Amino acid sequence: MKLKANIASMEAYVPGKTIPGAVKLSSNENPLGPSPKAVKAIREALAGIHRYPDGASTTLKTSLSRLWDVPAEGILVANGSDEVFTLLAAAWIGPGENAAGTRETFSQYRYAVRLFGAGMHEISLKDGSYDLNGMLDIIDRDTRMVFLCNPNNPTGTYRTHRQIADFLDRVPPDVIVVLDEAYADFADEADFPDSRALLNQYPNLVVARTFSKLYGLAGLRVGYAIGNPELISGTDRASMPFNVNNLAQAAALAALEDNEHREATLKLVQTEKAFFSTELTSRGIFHYPTQANFVCFRLDTEIADLWETIAGRGIAIRDLKSFGLPRMARYTFGTRKNNRRLLEILDEVNT
Ligand SMILES: Cc1ncc(COP(=O)(O)O)c(C=O)c1O
Repeated sequence: MKLKANIASMEAYVPGKTIPGAVKLSSNENPLGPSPKAVKAIREALAGIHRYPDGASTTLKTSLSRLWDVPAEGILVANGSDEVFTLLAAAWIGPGENAAGTRETFSQYRYAVRLFGAGMHEISLKDGSYDLNGMLDIIDRDTRMVFLCNPNNPTGTYRTHRQIADFLDRVPPDVIVVLDEAYADFADEADFPDSRALLNQYPNLVVARTFSKLYGLAGLRVGYAIGNPELISGTDRASMPFNVNNLAQAAALAALEDNEHREATLKLVQTEKAFFSTELTSRGIFHYPTQANFVCFRLDTEIADLWETIAGRGIAIRDLKSFGLPRMARYTFGTRKNNRRLLEILDEVNT
C-alpha cells in the first residue's frame, strides 16, 4: 500500500477544543444555541428520515435565491461551506495547477486544494490583513483559483468593497475567486463588501456562506455557494447525490425565517464586541479590530500549559499556533457572564 503523496503531506485539521467543565468559545459557534424554529423543524422532519433527502435542496435553494435575489441555478447547497471548498477544488483544479492563498487563515482551502493534488501557494498577512497586492503577485499561468476570507478567520480583519473590487479587476478572468464570507453576517462597517453587487460584476467570483455561525447550525453542516450558473453547475457535478441531509435542509430553511433568533444573535455579538474590545484596550492587550463574532488578541505570558490553564478556569479559547500565529488567541464573544469571566482569567494569567 502506498498513501498518495498529496494526502501524506496534508496536516490534520486542528479543531477548537471541547474541554469538560469549560464553556467552549473556541470555534465561533453561536452562544445562544440554535434557532428554536430550526429545532422545531427538525422534530417535524424526523418522521421522514427513512427517505433520502432532496439531492438538489430545492426548497432551501428557492429560499436562498429569494434572499440573495439570484436565480436558483446560481446557488449550490453543500455539507457545510467546508464542502463548498472541496467541491470547487474537485471540479476546477488538479495536479500541476495551483491556488493562491494566505497562510494565516482558515485551513480548509489548503486542504481542499491539496486533496486534489494541486499546489497551494501562500503568502502572509500584512499587518494582520489580507495582502491583496501580494496575492496578485503570486498568481501565475497555472493558478486556477484564489481564496479570500473576509472577514478573516482568525484575525477578524476585513478588506473593503473598493479593495476587493480592485483586486477582482486585476485577477485574470479565468481564475476563480472564492470569497469566503462565513462571518460577513456580523460585519457592521459601511465599507464592508456588498458581495451581491460584486457577483453581478464578476462572473469568476464565488461567494461562500454558512449556517454554522449566525444561524447556530454548525452540528448539522449546511453551507452554500453563490455564483454564476455555469460555475455553480460545473461545481455541482462533483457533489455526492445526497450531501445535505433531510434534517439539515429543514433546519436551515426554518432558521432563515427566524428573524428573532438572528437579531438576538447580532445584538449580542455587537454589544459584546464593543464591551470586550474596550476591556482589552483598557488592559493594554493588543487585539485586531474585528468584523466577526470573535476577536484575536495577544497573550504575552510565560505560563506553561497556558491554554489548558485558561480552560481549567472555565473558558476554552483558541490557541492560534496552528494558524501560524503563536502567542495569539482567538475568542468567540459569549454572553456577558462568559466575557467577564475570561477577563478575570486574563487578569490572573497576565500577572
Ligand atoms: C472562515 C471559515 N469558513 C468556513 C468555515 C466552515 O463553515 P462550515 O461549518 O459551513 O463548514 C469556518 C468554520 O469555522 C470558517 O471559520
